Amino acid sequence: MSTASNTSTPARRKILVTSALPYANGAIHLGHMVEYIQTDIWVRFQKMRGHQCLYVCADDAHGTPIMLRAEREGITPEELIARVKKEHEADFAAFAIGFDNYHSTHSEENRELAESIYLRLKEAGHIAVRTIKQAYDPVKEMFLPDRFLKGECPRCGAKDQYGDNCEVCGATYSTAELKNPVSVVSGATPVEKESEHYFFKLPDFEAMLRDWTHGGHLQAEVANKLDEWFEAGLQEWDISRDAPYFGFRIPGTQDKYFYVWLDAPMGYFASFKNLCAHRDDLDFDEYTRPDSDTELYHFIGKDIIYFHALFWPAVLHGAGLRTPTAIFAHGFLTVNGQKMSKSRGTFINARAYLDHLNPEYLRYYFAAKLTSRIDDLDLSFDDFTARVNADLVGKMVNIASRCAGYISKKCDGLLSATCSEPELYQRFVDAGEQIAELYEKREFSHAMREIMALADVANQYIDEQKPWVLAKSEDSAQQAQDVYSTGLNLFRVLMTWLKPVLPAMAGQAQDFLNIGSMDWHDCDKPLTHHRIDRFKPLMTRVEQEKIDAMLAQTRSELAAHAAAEAAGEGGEAAEPGPLQADPISDTIGFDDFARIDLRIARIQKAEHVDGADKLLRLTLDLGGETRNVFAGIKSAYAPEDLEGKLTVMVANLAPRKMRFGVSEGMVLAAGPGGEALWILHPDDGAQPGMRVK
Ligand code: 2FM
Ligand code: ZN
Repeated sequence: MSTASNTSTPARRKILVTSALPYANGAIHLGHMVEYIQTDIWVRFQKMRGHQCLYVCADDAHGTPIMLRAEREGITPEELIARVKKEHEADFAAFAIGFDNYHSTHSEENRELAESIYLRLKEAGHIAVRTIKQAYDPVKEMFLPDRFLKGECPRCGAKDQYGDNCEVCGATYSTAELKNPVSVVSGATPVEKESEHYFFKLPDFEAMLRDWTHGGHLQAEVANKLDEWFEAGLQEWDISRDAPYFGFRIPGTQDKYFYVWLDAPMGYFASFKNLCAHRDDLDFDEYTRPDSDTELYHFIGKDIIYFHALFWPAVLHGAGLRTPTAIFAHGFLTVNGQKMSKSRGTFINARAYLDHLNPEYLRYYFAAKLTSRIDDLDLSFDDFTARVNADLVGKMVNIASRCAGYISKKCDGLLSATCSEPELYQRFVDAGEQIAELYEKREFSHAMREIMALADVANQYIDEQKPWVLAKSEDSAQQAQDVYSTGLNLFRVLMTWLKPVLPAMAGQAQDFLNIGSMDWHDCDKPLTHHRIDRFKPLMTRVEQEKIDAMLAQTRSELAAHAAAEAAGEGGEAAEPGPLQADPISDTIGFDDFARIDLRIARIQKAEHVDGADKLLRLTLDLGGETRNVFAGIKSAYAPEDLEGKLTVMVANLAPRKMRFGVSEGMVLAAGPGGEALWILHPDDGAQPGMRVK
């Protein structure tokens, strides 16, 4: 990508940058934050280099899930999206995501853009109209998107599968093939109904797209993926939805709306248009006309490549607008090596994180792992703690804190009049160009490694010079001041290279170093005979208790959410398309939970089982009825400890034939295992056979 990789060009580039627009019906979670942090670092870097770089985003406010959620909450969609937008903006601000503008796709700017782009496409003959059959909910009187239909998989027979694919066997199919379908919205059996739909004729753009996708606008692995889609053949894209729908009505129709994915990417331009209206120095057409020499970059997740690398460039080209300079796709976030999961309690909301931990820890941790490729990125909390503590506190803060005290106390805050290590200083400054190239190419992980290697050099320099020894004698006091001054100057250079990642810490460093700005080239010359302010701690260590508290909060929020969903209040089904994070896939609904019959039982008899290492055979009295249950608790209890005590059992579990006999239920155990396993219930008046509530 010639434009993107040219870091040494002194000319001031004009760059428009976007991150994907989050849906306006759900909270921002850490999976989202990978992208906003990645984009924000890149944008801050460009700004520090002196370019005009504008970062716009918006809430993605349209579609069926938003309409239904508002209805469930008893509010209008407009009220819902206004509330969620505020929550999103607060989360982003707390993570220091520096949007130049944050708008909504449900805006006048976007309506005008969507209508005018559609009309241009129509005029040019790129819109087809034809009648299709679709699943229709006769009770709710609405057509049903695939995710609002459930039934049995036509291939493996698994129950409770979505209308378009089976999570058990991986089959994909059409909704018509789903067996015993039901509407998720009303529970009714859907019927097939005809309706007229509008299609964007994507195949008209095949030649243009084949060129464009190989024109240096995409990462190699993305371009290869697109080749597979070309092989499969481009299909016309259904861009209309029938009423009721929350979106923009298609001009010239009474009850047809633009599908949310048509006007979502237009929301990038709508947000920019809204920004232009407030800024005299910006010209919307300069950035959007086909011969524009400005740059346009979209940061996205790998799940929405199809929309951005095929539909969007084709729509833009067809409407006579500029196409993106590049699409930058990233991978998904995993937590402790696994997909973010509600049942495992790793589906962590941005707000839960912010309630306990410094946002800059996460900015640094993601930066330390991000590359330009689309590999998934793992957040492991042990690694997170180790890396932040070692790099930011152990290396960076350490340089500043060990040098600042002496300068403040013994030198009246004044740095030495000359730089005693000009070569060392120059070595740090010179590293800036390589680090800039790495930022430019989104190789943040490599950039962080280079910066931390220099932080090691700075600390080693101070260790070797032993300024604390020099400081003991009047004769070498000047040398001590020189070493500490050099240390602070090196710290300033490193903090400059880290500023795109750690804007708050850099701001505090700027304050204590008493410097007006911290742009890329401000540190070309060292600070000499310069007075610093009193040092304040720049960052504290990550504490395990804070992580535990965040995870505990997440678990309780998820449990509350699951209970609300089971009671019919939740539901955040996304628009079709792969999800960034898995939906609740391995949890049970409230109805299932309510069917579990938990009873107090008295352990009448407990015995060893011949040939079994882990099992005890329990004879349980359920108040008139006895059950034979095998329990894997031998590591924690001797039989004589148990007899006569109370426990809690699942009383309606189907009998299970085991090697040693039939087990007629299950006792509930808690604990990590081994000796630490508890099954006993306090004998506080509970009676065998009582239900546990
Ligand atoms: O996948 C999503 O979360 C979408 N809301 C992203 C839209 S990006 C753009 F096209 F608007
Ligand atoms: Zn299946």
